[in-house]
Amino acid sequence: MRLSLRFILPLFLVLAVITWATLLLVDRFVEKWFVRDVEIRSQFVAHTLENPLLAALEAGDSQARLDSLFRSATKDERLYALAFCNPQSNMLVKSEYFPPSLNCSGDLLPAHKASGLLRFGNAPIHVSFVGVTVNNKNIGTLILVHDMSYVERRSSETKRYIFYFFALLAVVISFTTVVIAQLSWRGWINGMRAVMRGEGLLRPFSPGVSSELRPIVKDLRAMMRSLESEKAVRDEAHISWSPKSLKEILQNDLAGDEILIVSNREPYIHIRKEGKVEVQFPASGLVSALEPVMRACSGTWIAHGSGNADREFVDKKDHVQVPPDNPSYQIRRVWLTEQEEQGYYYGFSNEGLWPLCHVAHTRPVFRSKDWEAYVAVNRKFAEAIFEETKTENPVILVQDYHFALLPRMIKQRLPKASVITFWHIPWPNPEAFGICPWREEILHGMLGSSILGFHTRFHCNNFIDTVDRFMETRIDRETSTIASGGHYTAVRNYPISIEWPPRWLEGQPPIPQCQRQVRQELQIAPEVKLGVGVDRLDYTKGILERFLAVERLLELSPEFLGRFSFLQIASPSRSSIEHYKQFDQAVRQEAERINKRFGSSTYLPIHLLVEHHSPQDVFRLFRASDLCFVSSLHDGMNLVAKEFVAAREDEQGVLILSQFTGASRELPEALIVNPYDIDQCAAALQIALEMPVREQRHRMRSMRAYVAEFNVYRWAGRILIDAARMRQQHRFRERPRLGL
Ligand code: F6P
Repeated sequence: MRLSLRFILPLFLVLAVITWATLLLVDRFVEKWFVRDVEIRSQFVAHTLENPLLAALEAGDSQARLDSLFRSATKDERLYALAFCNPQSNMLVKSEYFPPSLNCSGDLLPAHKASGLLRFGNAPIHVSFVGVTVNNKNIGTLILVHDMSYVERRSSETKRYIFYFFALLAVVISFTTVVIAQLSWRGWINGMRAVMRGEGLLRPFSPGVSSELRPIVKDLRAMMRSLESEKAVRDEAHISWSPKSLKEILQNDLAGDEILIVSNREPYIHIRKEGKVEVQFPASGLVSALEPVMRACSGTWIAHGSGNADREFVDKKDHVQVPPDNPSYQIRRVWLTEQEEQGYYYGFSNEGLWPLCHVAHTRPVFRSKDWEAYVAVNRKFAEAIFEETKTENPVILVQDYHFALLPRMIKQRLPKASVITFWHIPWPNPEAFGICPWREEILHGMLGSSILGFHTRFHCNNFIDTVDRFMETRIDRETSTIASGGHYTAVRNYPISIEWPPRWLEGQPPIPQCQRQVRQELQIAPEVKLGVGVDRLDYTKGILERFLAVERLLELSPEFLGRFSFLQIASPSRSSIEHYKQFDQAVRQEAERINKRFGSSTYLPIHLLVEHHSPQDVFRLFRASDLCFVSSLHDGMNLVAKEFVAAREDEQGVLILSQFTGASRELPEALIVNPYDIDQCAAALQIALEMPVREQRHRMRSMRAYVAEFNVYRWAGRILIDAARMRQQHRFRERPRLGL
């Protein structure tokens, strides 16, 4: 309707102006035509009267004859009056209605004019002075007065018809325009919608795309993609990524839209130990990455309240303001029963999905009871989200494999929400994933996301291949988009990172002091080289392989005996799972075995600390060490590698990094190893221990520059920019529908 008015109003305006101009012209032309007509007529009448006039003048009763002649002449309805003047300008005779104001001198007429229009009372008249010549002798002048009121009548009649004509024309043109516009607009809009939905790209001749659009569909999409990617690159490259720039994106691109994060692990855990409550920051890559983002963005973080004192610190709505020392956002704690935690967290998430997605040769365990708990807890978190959201279109950041079903549940209740799911662990190939008995349900759940993020392109491709294998969807590999049931999921890689500079560096002692302190605490001599590994006590981290590499180094290069020790921090994790218990034992035994083999009363090759360490302490250990060894058998990203780099302001220290981590794609300056190749790892240890200071500096400087630039604000910013763009495109796609 609005669209039609946009056509009709200007059309009416233009036609009104044309009508007005035409009517003005009509007035002028009609008058001109009729005046000329009357003038010719006057000449004609004058000629007709010449002889009777001469005869009447020469007759004896000239006055009576002239009167009768004029009476009969003025019977013509248009000839209103007549008069005759002799050459001396004396009016000899005039008809009954001759205007008294007219005389023989014609001074009412414009100068040098023998005729013209005048007004007699209200009536328009035309006056003509016509000389009467007989036999070349001027005998006088006839004054002919014509009634011109019929001209006005004709003119207004003509104007009326012209007005009707234009009005009709306007209606006909408007109607035709509206019909054509509506038909072709609908065609274009349908075509555009199909293009925007990607149908044109997926199938260039799909029925959704109108025939006139087909030739340009490909170009249009290509242009949009290139504009988008150019903008993305431009945006990212031009921003210096910090909490401030992230806030600006929220304010500008997302216009302050509501943001919620959902994860299993909460960033601050209240734990009561020996009667005292302490706040623990968990050993979790997810938390390390998202916590600074949340501090920058504010909002609500929904997570499992897992601490034994958590309930003591929430308000009526289960909210707790954090960080405790300087609150800037809130956690909404969700309570789980022991059975729920057992089935959903330990069971399906960590005995099923965790080993399934990590190719670490640990057999996944799938139990129906665990699956039921997983579904129920996903539902419980969905309800918590619905309680927390204040708007119908929030941006919800769903984190990790604990919530594969949540995106679909959210979409069903809040179809306008932007659900961004980030999968922090690897995604295996279709064969590996295919053994999951609920593979379709999981994929269906995840495809409720608007954006689905992985750390690497490789994991995105694995996911797309898996969907291709098990689901009925349309996959556009060029744009990495999956269409299922009219819903679109963009599968993107966003390599996660850490905050820069990390807040855990604040208040750290200088590096030489860290080195002295830590060696004293471990009771090792100041000159002993120290390697460090910091992990959750998890079989995917390659801790055993790391120990074997240390053993191999000491075997092959005994000169390092007493001169090199390895410190392993192993944060207890998922300890109620049998496999983790066994792994805990295996790690302790292996350390003990190697220490027995190469240690002495004053020297331990391996220092194993199975306990939780605060992030400040972990950073102090990084600063004290000569090398950091990350030997994951499979890892989505591994943020320990990036944290080690961030801790080394002195640009010293060597990173040994497993080729099976996402981080190895970003930090090629590290010594990249295959953790299954023990000899290679031992060689890497030796190279690291002997690496010249200069080379350490080159490598470390380059890695630090990279991590500083590609920090976690950039990671979150990229996701939020994509979400904002998607929301904008969505509005754009909806707009024509509203306009029709
Ligand atoms: O890597 C997956 C992940 O959820 C990480 O985000 C995190 O580092 C780790 O597992 C923590 O595991 P949990 O929460 O089970 O202790």
